Amino acid sequence: MNFENILVDNNNGLGTITINRPKKLNALNKATIEELHHAFKNLNEDKSVKVILITGSGEKAFVAGADISEFAHFSVQDGGKLAAKGQEILFDFVENLSTPVIALVNGFALGGGLELAMACHFRIASDNAKMGLPETSLGVIPGYGGTQRLPQLIGKGKAMELIMTAGMISADEAKEYGLVNYVVTPEDLFPLAERLAGKIMRNSSVAISKAINAVNANFKDGVNGFNTEIEQFGACFGTADFKEGTTAFLEKRKATFPNK
Ligand code: COA
Repeated sequence: MNFENILVDNNNGLGTITINRPKKLNALNKATIEELHHAFKNLNEDKSVKVILITGSGEKAFVAGADISEFAHFSVQDGGKLAAKGQEILFDFVENLSTPVIALVNGFALGGGLELAMACHFRIASDNAKMGLPETSLGVIPGYGGTQRLPQLIGKGKAMELIMTAGMISADEAKEYGLVNYVVTPEDLFPLAERLAGKIMRNSSVAISKAINAVNANFKDGVNGFNTEIEQFGACFGTADFKEGTTAFLEKRKATFPNK
């Protein structure tokens, strides 16, 4: 698939996706969502990729939301389908990838933009970033998982306030709420992401994918996360990574994981 709205880079185990519609503040239109699905799928299937980063191009925005011009005339059925398809091919898809995904929030992350960042496994931000779910100011509600993931990340009361007021918070406030893990200058955002990715890459990618699965199980309806953890913990004992990790520890050397 040729990409027109995103840039994809794959270098030294690090896959980077940049949403590239800066004139529209990287708003998520249908084509961009489909391209993102394919890019995430390809990078996740490439075993040389150990960490995926996602960011927005330009200095102003990560993503300023779903593309309002595309859905302004939608019917009730169209609206429902828009949310269902988006959740399936992008937001839930990213959350459940076996490769760790870090969002680099480099400016406005509003509506679908914040929802995309929240679907990632964790977030870091530059100090000029602004985040919010402004949908109620448009007469709609968040439809890409925002009503579920925001309370998971920052608690129900704060999430209710942000959604009801349609307000924006600063990067520092987002850090205080636990929505982003670090806030740095725009110049330091990529170097920080690379440092974090480097730490992740030293560990077993098989164990990390099982940890993602177990952590996510806590938030899945009808799934007992403790049971998922037990299953995934047990499964680790059959992996080459476990053999290497424990052997290396006992031999007092650094592990070289085969990632199997
Ligand atoms: N959908 C479609 N187009 C969008 C967009 C979105 N979510 N967000 C920004 N754009 C477009 C603008 O229409 C404008 O296009 P134009 O130059 O062709 O008119 C361009 O991006 C630049 O945006 P502009 O509003 O001029 O920038 P600004 O600096 O004055 O304001 C924001 C920045 C983020 C505050 C403002 O763009 C905004 O409120 N965007 C919508 C946010 C939103 O409600 N998102 C949730 C959608 S569900």
